Amino acid sequence: MMKVLVTGASGNGGQAVCRALLDAGYTVRMADVIPTQMDDLKQAEFVRCDTRTPADVRRAVAGMDAVVHLAAWHCAHNPPVSDETIFAVNVDGTFHVLEACRQEGIQSIVYASSMAYGWWSVYGVSKVIGEDLCKAYNEMTGASIVMLRYHEFIPRPYLEFGARLLKNGVDRRDVAAATVASVKAVLARRVGLFRTIVHTDHGMPQEVVDRFRELGVAWCEEHVPGARRLIEKYAIPLPEQVEQHDLKEAEQVLGWRPAVGFLDFLRDLQARDEKGLDVSGLWVPSELPGMWPAR
Ligand SMILES: NC(=O)c1ccc[n+]([C@@H]2O[C@H](COP(=O)([O-])OP(=O)(O)OC[C@H]3O[C@@H](n4cnc5c(N)ncnc54)[C@H](O)[C@@H]3O)[C@@H](O)[C@H]2O)c1
Repeated sequence: MMKVLVTGASGNGGQAVCRALLDAGYTVRMADVIPTQMDDLKQAEFVRCDTRTPADVRRAVAGMDAVVHLAAWHCAHNPPVSDETIFAVNVDGTFHVLEACRQEGIQSIVYASSMAYGWWSVYGVSKVIGEDLCKAYNEMTGASIVMLRYHEFIPRPYLEFGARLLKNGVDRRDVAAATVASVKAVLARRVGLFRTIVHTDHGMPQEVVDRFRELGVAWCEEHVPGARRLIEKYAIPLPEQVEQHDLKEAEQVLGWRPAVGFLDFLRDLQARDEKGLDVSGLWVPSELPGMWPAR
């Protein structure tokens, strides 16, 4: 049974990744500064670990076959986290995780990067440096490393979440599935250093992607009869164009493709609508007590 450490395991992405790893048959060790509040994850081992502290990290990675490094702060927390803390956790923390893996001889690593990668914020540059550190440790140690540039999966009101799938949103289940596929790839040493975007794919023809406001409703109606009425009733804003990336390389290398698209959201909405359920107060995901106060 392969053993996988997940840092930032109590967070939004971490919980979904741990669940998916357990479902795939891995032994999971969860590392975070706070324990999980999810009952179904309490079967997994928990180690308290502040990634800014090398000794904590060394203890957390000891004896593992692979490490998924998710622990980070980003800009969506309310109240906000300072840039100093973002830099310390995201940069020093990532260095400590990679260095501890080198010391413990762990050669299989998955790193959570972001589509916010770039130079316009301290968070963005922390992911640039994180990816550079991955590259350096791949070259220095020969470790197999996958860097995942996740799109956005910050908890949101349900209707907003659905609309965002057409833009920069991705469902947390796709984030988890891409991460598990990456764990398999690094454990099998199928990759040296590999990076991909993790986003939604609606399976739309290019013409519909490019002219969604014009052609999108008819395309949705064709696949989900009743979609037009739902889009109107719930006033779902439709973008001019759909944001879509070519994810073929991820499919070839990792064997992963996104599973949750806008049509799945519409089917879910339809099922709730038929039951007369009120979706106005619903959040996605809906189970993070205390962490994400309703705004
Ligand atoms: N949520 C998104 O939309 C999104 C998008 C792109 C990339 N990412 C990346 O994905 C990863 C997971 O994001 P998330 O949204 O699940 O974050 P989250 O804020 O929900 O969870 C982060 C977890 O890290 C933990 N943590 C914070 N500081 C720590 C420290 N010093 N040591 C150990 N643990 C610490 C927190 O307690 C929390 O449980 C992050 O690396 C993030 O940058 C997230």
